[in-house]
Amino acid sequence: MGIHKATGSILLAFALWRVGWRLWQGFPPLISDGPAWQLRLAHWSHYGLLAAIVLMPLSGMAGSLLGGRNIDVFGMFIIPAITKNELLHDIAGEVHEIAAYAVLIILVLHIGAALKHHFKDRDQTLNRMLTGRTSKEDGKT
Ligand code: HEM
Ligand code: HEM
Repeated sequence: MGIHKATGSILLAFALWRVGWRLWQGFPPLISDGPAWQLRLAHWSHYGLLAAIVLMPLSGMAGSLLGGRNIDVFGMFIIPAITKNELLHDIAGEVHEIAAYAVLIILVLHIGAALKHHFKDRDQTLNRMLTGRTSKEDGKT
């Protein structure tokens, strides 16, 4: 649990950076077309994943810090507890747990969709994510 808490707390810094950058830059334009419900689902699952990236570490930290526990970040520094409040501790714990299940469901959908685009639709969605460009831009096709 010590490693879980320390790693998660460090991840919050990267999460804020990554999510802030994405919201600032906007999303890349979709490569493929599809029925409106699929585009909507992709859109909302991307927002869901971005929210989760921040919410998981934040709720974990809130659970500890509002439950009267410090977070020891690999012995490098300590984030001190804020208060000891059973109610807030429990709420943060619930958010942490429910969000974990929600992320799991969205992730299965997300990875499934990426594989569908790559192997069934055979479009450039996954390639663009992996390389940052499409093979068309690469001059390969
Ligand atoms: C990306 C960051 C994180 C992810 C993906 C994550 C994921 C999880 C998951 C899947 C569980 C098990 C489900 C549950 O019982 O709630 C869990 C439990 C827990 N996490 Fe995290 N966590 C993260 C960050 C943190 C942080 C930063 C802290 C505290 C500083 C933390 C503290 C805890 C605690 C105390 C539990 C046990 C809760 C209980 O059993 O009542 N987590 N976490
Ligand atoms: C095997 C793992 C994964 C695969 C194959 C994968 C695949 C992809 C692909 C192909 C896209 C591009 C969609 C487009 O261009 O329209 C994408 C976007 C995205 N993915 Fe994943 N993904 C994976 C894991 C994850 C994880 C673990 C997260 C976060 C917890 C995540 C969050 C996102 C988000 C937020 C976007 C939207 C665009 C962005 O912010 O860059 N993905 N993913």
